[in-house]
Amino acid sequence: MSNIKKILLNKTPCKSVWFMRQAGRYLPEFREIRIKNPNFIKLCLNSELSSEITLQPIKRFNLDAAIIFSDILMIPYALGQNVTFLKDEGPKLDKFDDKAFSSCSNKEFSNKLKPVYDAISITRKKLDKKKSLISFVGAPWTLLVYMFELKKNKWDINSKKIISEEDNLRATIERLINYICLHIKNQINAGADIVQIFDSWSGLIPTKYIKDYCYLPNAKIVEFCKKENIQNICFPKGLKEKYEDFNKIVKPDGINLDYEIDPIWAKEKLDNVVIQGGLSPFALLKSDDDMFELATKYFQTFKDIPYIFNLGHGLLPETDPDKVKKLVNFYRRF
Ligand code: CP3
Repeated sequence: MSNIKKILLNKTPCKSVWFMRQAGRYLPEFREIRIKNPNFIKLCLNSELSSEITLQPIKRFNLDAAIIFSDILMIPYALGQNVTFLKDEGPKLDKFDDKAFSSCSNKEFSNKLKPVYDAISITRKKLDKKKSLISFVGAPWTLLVYMFELKKNKWDINSKKIISEEDNLRATIERLINYICLHIKNQINAGADIVQIFDSWSGLIPTKYIKDYCYLPNAKIVEFCKKENIQNICFPKGLKEKYEDFNKIVKPDGINLDYEIDPIWAKEKLDNVVIQGGLSPFALLKSDDDMFELATKYFQTFKDIPYIFNLGHGLLPETDPDKVKKLVNFYRRF
């Protein structure tokens, strides 16, 4: 806990603030680059542009941390699964090919993602030393959702597929942990200060699999981080009251609340961890007063304990950048 405090809290005079998806489509300067770069994966592999995009929200809002512009799907991409983004449908991956996956050596994997590591080095040099550079990975389950197309539609899981693919899923989780840890280590070696582990779809895991597909894989990754002295923040989105068990079992340095978690409940139940985030990204679509009122609940609740202000999921593409500025200023004044 003291490490993450040092990185994200003590470097700046006030408590820190950054936002998930702070580098993204709500920013006109991002859209300008994006329109000229229709292939999203290629854009993530353009180190100069990726670094420029990473720094866009820092220039605009003077946030305390930058998160590297990349994607959790860079891991399946590096393991031979082609990734495309269909408009309004989200990411689509080629069929999982066990041969390609199994034949990828650690060296080949690292070489394929070298542009991401270069982007981190470039950004670290340009970023104010007092600010943190955050790297990230997807947790195994959330990667599997895309790799094996485990969702029926936007919100529902394909339970039949989970059962029929069980052996495959279990084996793939174990192998993914190796690559996830390697990707974390490479990003830290390139100059990142901390890693956030996104388990964005953990809320969809059937209860009987929650330990094997969520708690234990995240715990192994956090254990690796601790062994390597790498500060880490977990985001097990959608777990509801299971956030408490997750925190007890996984023991991350930091935990990001999603927008369904009541901050007062979290303060009482989540021990020995730095709390981050929680505010619904929809709050930024409301009037200024409503947004400030919703945000104040988080600031008030956590004012006497370490807290990193952030959201309960990523900024929405329709967010007005002026609203982000107003929210940051409001937090700083608070
Ligand atoms: O600013 C940042 O937060 C850093 C960059 C970042 C991106 N993706 C860029 C991106 C981060 C941290 C991610 C993580 C990510 N990617 C997650 C976990 C966080 C979450 O949102 O739950 C997931 C599940 C993905 C997979 C992914 N990538 C999806 C579902 C999509 C489509 C999203 C959509 O709204 O259409 C992406 C594409 C993506 N990744 C965009 C950005 C800025 C949008 C790209 C575009 O079309 O311009």
